[in-house]
Amino acid sequence: DTPTSDMKVGIIGSGLIGQSWAMLFASAGYQVGIYDVEIEQVKKALQNIEQQLLDLEEQGLLRGNLNKQEQRERIAAASTIGDCVKGAFYIQECVPERLDIKKGVWGEVDKIVNVDVIMASSSSSLLPSKISDNLKHRNRFVVSHPTNPPFYAPLVEIIPAPWTDDDVVPTTKSLLERIGQVPVVLKKEIDGFVLNRIQYSIIGEAWRLINDDIISAEDLDKVMSTGLGVRYAFMGPLETAYLNADGMKSYIERYAEMIYRIQTSFGQPLPMGGKTGDKIQKELESYVCPVERVTERRQWRDKRLAALAKLKKEMDKG
Ligand code: NAI
Repeated sequence: DTPTSDMKVGIIGSGLIGQSWAMLFASAGYQVGIYDVEIEQVKKALQNIEQQLLDLEEQGLLRGNLNKQEQRERIAAASTIGDCVKGAFYIQECVPERLDIKKGVWGEVDKIVNVDVIMASSSSSLLPSKISDNLKHRNRFVVSHPTNPPFYAPLVEIIPAPWTDDDVVPTTKSLLERIGQVPVVLKKEIDGFVLNRIQYSIIGEAWRLINDDIISAEDLDKVMSTGLGVRYAFMGPLETAYLNADGMKSYIERYAEMIYRIQTSFGQPLPMGGKTGDKIQKELESYVCPVERVTERRQWRDKRLAALAKLKKEMDKG
């Protein structure tokens, strides 16, 4: 069953991702308890959330039917991990990507939760089986891996462990849909999940093309931002292929042989670093910005992602 919106969600870790999850759940009306091992950090997180809600309101991008104040009031700082998860039907852990830290946190939570809770980790690479293997409630464990920034890139990968109960994935999926995210389900765990496997295959080929002096870093980035990426903002590689021919069968007839020939020329991946790393860094400093100015450039990025999110929302309505 889809959880109703008066229920409570517990967020553990109030950094970048914890703050985003808190806002997303609050926007759909959920009561949110947020905890951090650093007490000062929770205070900072709540201030950031306040500011972000203000910005979203100004841009007309506030989610859900509640106003800024109503959303803010749904998020409360918890002073202990016990307070945070007490009464929560769903717990989203957002602590640093280190197995020892995640295991420590979940070990504590495991002692105090009910048998029907859902225990979700934001892990971006640690496998659910590795984090949860020793837990008493490991059958309630799942990874819900968000995409950064979660407000504008709504994809969430849901990855069960081999022992995850059958109801956990569908309930998590409907909860995430309810808060306006776009969940996809991996049927079983795999290193890198799916988003990063695809991302790393793109980085791998980009690295090779620059390493072999075929193209500059700046032009390589343009291939994505003005070519492939323009289509990918609206559809995936499979639909792209489908539309580029008269369906997949016709695409295969026309292109499969050539694609396979090129794919077999990819060879072993090159480790990132060395001279090519230095060369790419230098180029990026010149065509993007010096490292000291990346905060400004992130604002430039987020402004564009926000505008795209708005456009996509409007187009999907029509
Ligand atoms: P972050 O470093 O911004 O926040 C982590 C927070 O956890 C900090 O506030 C820290 O004080 C707190 N923390 C550390 N130990 C703790 C403990 N024992 N109990 C409670 N809180 C504790 O990290 P970020 O970026 O928010 O990442 C969190 C998780 O989300 C990681 O697993 C990361 O891989 C994943 N993720 C991150 C993405 C990103 O782009 N930043 C994207 C998708 C997933």
